Amino acid sequence: MENFQYVNPTKLIFGRNQVNDSLAGEVEAYGTRVLLVYGGGSIKKNGLYELVLEQLNLISNVQIVELSGVEPNPRLSTVNKGIQLIKENQLDFILAVGGGSVIDCAKAISVGAHYDGDVWDFVTGKAAPSSSIPLGTILTMAATGSEMNGNSVITNWDERDKRAFSSIHTYPKFSILDPQNTFSIPADQTVYGIVDLMSHVLEQYFHVSENAPVQERFGESILKTTIETAPKLLESPESYAYREVIMLNATFALNNMLSMGVKTDWATHMIEHAVSAVHDIPHGGGLAILFPHWMELVSETKPERVAQLGIRVFELDPANKNTRELAYETIQKLKEFWKTIGAPTKLSDYGIDNKEIDLMVKRSIVNKTIGNYVPLGENEVRQILERAL
Ligand code: NZQ
Ligand code: ZN
Repeated sequence: MENFQYVNPTKLIFGRNQVNDSLAGEVEAYGTRVLLVYGGGSIKKNGLYELVLEQLNLISNVQIVELSGVEPNPRLSTVNKGIQLIKENQLDFILAVGGGSVIDCAKAISVGAHYDGDVWDFVTGKAAPSSSIPLGTILTMAATGSEMNGNSVITNWDERDKRAFSSIHTYPKFSILDPQNTFSIPADQTVYGIVDLMSHVLEQYFHVSENAPVQERFGESILKTTIETAPKLLESPESYAYREVIMLNATFALNNMLSMGVKTDWATHMIEHAVSAVHDIPHGGGLAILFPHWMELVSETKPERVAQLGIRVFELDPANKNTRELAYETIQKLKEFWKTIGAPTKLSDYGIDNKEIDLMVKRSIVNKTIGNYVPLGENEVRQILERAL
């Protein structure tokens, strides 16, 4: 393994009715002047909004200012609105209620409110956050792991660019995860979340470090339980038991435990972010299309880990097969699984053709290459995108 340090300051509050039991006390520990951040209205339809207001109003002298309408693939312009609200109203706490988009937007607001320059500087690396307004979250969507990591992914729509930054200052102080709050997620978004969490495991599973058996086995167990649970969950979207398994899996998949001591890949995510930046498609949908093509490309030179995945997760029988054949079968199994749960398979499913492929290639590659398992340059990224059309 590589040397590493691991810190995760987020307090995870998981289970039934935890908003009623914990929210007011947790918020009060940090402040009373709250920016409440949420998305396009799902929390108003499912009753969570009323519950949150009821609980926040238990705090004496509480003041609540709202930022609603955070977009899926949250935009820099919305982050800037939030920063302005914090400054105008001298707010001292941010509560994000929603999925990864709402949480990522709130994270960027939390560090942007303590910075005089443009938040996009954090994304480009021109500046690094040095402090933040404390942030708490109520997660409504199992997918990104944003509830327990320091990442924030923001879209700059003017530049058609979507990029991530990460900081110790953007970890939520607490995240409340009640699986009941995910009952109302529509089937397509549930599927995107499942694909996203599996992709997070895969990005870390395809590491380039020696001797990481427990990290690999941990990843495999998240994949296996997700594959077992996902079809049952789609049959019974209000099953607490299935929702809680997927919810905890998504958190484990990207709270950086799987990255301990290993150098990970992340090329597919960079390509997907580029596709989303140009075409504004759902992140999980893009990953379902791109990941099998990435696997095919890397299997041409390094099929071993793909084959291992097939044997251990998809229970392929290795008898009389070479590593390439096993890798090929693994990719078929993964594709088949994502297809059966209803994920898209081609970029054209989103009406994307090759017109803006140059821009997508350019946006994928920040430096000369991306990824570590097999570093990819422009040609390889173009090949993946062309095969995915
Ligand atoms: O906006 P509302 O009305 O809330 O509706 C949302 C949105 O339309 C809806 N939804 C969420 N919870 C719901 C619900 N609908 C009904 N009932 C509920 N309980 O679902 C839609 C998608 O929400 P969104 O937050 O966009 O989904 P997700 O959690 O998948 O987040 C995606 C964003 O996170 C980024 C992605 O790139 C994308 O921008 N990522 C963030 C990461 C991180 N912070 O670590 C890592 C990921 O790899 C990813 O890049
Ligand atoms: Zn992702």
